[in-house]
Amino acid sequence: NNRRPIVAGNWKMNGNLALVKTMQQSISSIELDNVDIVVCPPAVYINAFDAPDLLTGAQDISLFEAGAHTGDISAGMFAELGCQFVIVGHSERRTDHSESNELVAKKASAALEQGLTPIVCVGEPLQVREAGQVFDYVAEQLDAVISTIGVERLSELVIAYEPVWAIGTGQSATPEQAQDVHRFIREHLAKADSEAGMRIRILYGGSVNARNASALFAQADVDGGLIGGASLKQDEFLAICQSAN
Ligand code: G3H
Repeated sequence: NNRRPIVAGNWKMNGNLALVKTMQQSISSIELDNVDIVVCPPAVYINAFDAPDLLTGAQDISLFEAGAHTGDISAGMFAELGCQFVIVGHSERRTDHSESNELVAKKASAALEQGLTPIVCVGEPLQVREAGQVFDYVAEQLDAVISTIGVERLSELVIAYEPVWAIGTGQSATPEQAQDVHRFIREHLAKADSEAGMRIRILYGGSVNARNASALFAQADVDGGLIGGASLKQDEFLAICQSAN
């Protein structure tokens, strides 16, 4: 395939200005021509990044563009800072802030309206995997987004498959488990629009580290990763980026 891989670092609520400087320096110091490296720090640090070739993303956005929504930040505001991406529907947002499939879909739509690429997170909790219902669960998460943004905009998305049981646990999905769901996601999207199915980049997230990244990224339908904990360590993050290059 000719999909360009993405390695996105999701700092979650971690880091500080010193880490911005370190990461910026180390990412600028390596030349990787075949991977898009994206850093998603906490919102307050986005503007502290100052490297033209570095892509940045937000970790969440409001579904509104402006107005009386204290504490929220809109897609347009991130776009004005030069962000290209925004993570929507991360499992921690779905849990901590009760974000529903419908809300996540509206946020994806708000992102597209302002020219941001949404990285839409999907993935099942352990009970769902144990019950053998992974595909149904993920399909429902995807369908909410497809019906809200419309088939014509589908190819503009990035999808991240993050099994909840693999996030922050040190227990990554195996390359086969990841590929299995990634293939399902691609086929499901292709049913809505075959071109989009082929073009959309599907990232794997959940305990990716410098040791397991190559095997995961080598899978046919895995187009890079969404990295949590390991994105806070400069050497490890760079090694992961190299594995995708
Ligand atoms: O967004 C990133 C994922 O939640 C993965 O986090 O790499 O710390 O498991 P993790």
